[in-house]
Amino acid sequence: MAYETIIVEVEDHVATLKLNRPDALNALNSHLLGELSQALAEADRNDKVRCIIITGSQKAFAAGADIKEMSEKSYVDMLMSDFFGSESNAITATRKPIIAAVSGYALGGGCELAMMCDFIIAADTAKFGQPEINLGVIPGLGGTQRLTRFIGKSKAMDMVLTGRFMDAEEAERSGLVSRVVPAKSLMEEARAAADKIAEKSMISTVVAKEQVNVAYEMTLSQGLLSERRAFHALFNTEDQNEGMAAFMEKRSAQFRDR
Ligand code: HXC
Repeated sequence: MAYETIIVEVEDHVATLKLNRPDALNALNSHLLGELSQALAEADRNDKVRCIIITGSQKAFAAGADIKEMSEKSYVDMLMSDFFGSESNAITATRKPIIAAVSGYALGGGCELAMMCDFIIAADTAKFGQPEINLGVIPGLGGTQRLTRFIGKSKAMDMVLTGRFMDAEEAERSGLVSRVVPAKSLMEEARAAADKIAEKSMISTVVAKEQVNVAYEMTLSQGLLSERRAFHALFNTEDQNEGMAAFMEKRSAQFRDR
């Protein structure tokens, strides 16, 4: 399917979704987020796709929600449209792993979109921030919630209350990003990580993603029980037999998603 605000490329087992509103530093408007939700649903349905990468341009992953689109809205407009609620639910409902490959600005909704992905690989040029306070509002796509869980209260308060940007090194140190790589090799590194994920059994991949996300929703004892039951259930798959047999036979596993 052809989109206007994103470029979708499926190569081997990896779908790369590139945000493409260069004139607005990939600001997230309803059109773009609608297309992104559709493209993610399509990638989730496509049996060939085993991992997804969301990326932007060198200068900006995304500089936030589109301020021009939001500026004229009233409280009632925002409430009745549940502004970006359904789009963000659609993004986080994606079952296949999503890597955010971030170069340049990831601000406001851009930082929040990156945090909706499963992990973030950052170029050394990346800058993260929740500057909504400068606009007289607050983060509205998870910036006060996910960021606090990811980097802790003190740093999240600092970011959200001052609106300051965090560079890639600080973001890695704080646990916001999983790794920092040179800007010129960002896509290569993201692709290598996606290829690694694509080699695994899709069954254990989907269950592993679900269980890590459970950690954010449940108490520790509930989460541990959920994990244990999911672990037990994987012993009903051919891929478990294959993975363990391959280890013992000193060969690489040939997973068939069964
Ligand atoms: C609309 C944006 C934009 C945005 C940049 N642009 N960010 N348009 N919404 N969020 C546009 C600019 O208006 C400009 O267009 C073009 O992109 C280039 O931007 P410049 O400002 O000229 O670039 P530069 O000087 O390099 O500064 C880059 C920047 C700055 C530091 C990233 O653009 C900036 O501060 N942007 C806003 C960041 C922000 O406040 N984000 C939070 C948004 S609120 P023209 O046409 O003028 O050339 C949010 C809420 C999320 O995200 C919750 C939603 C539910």
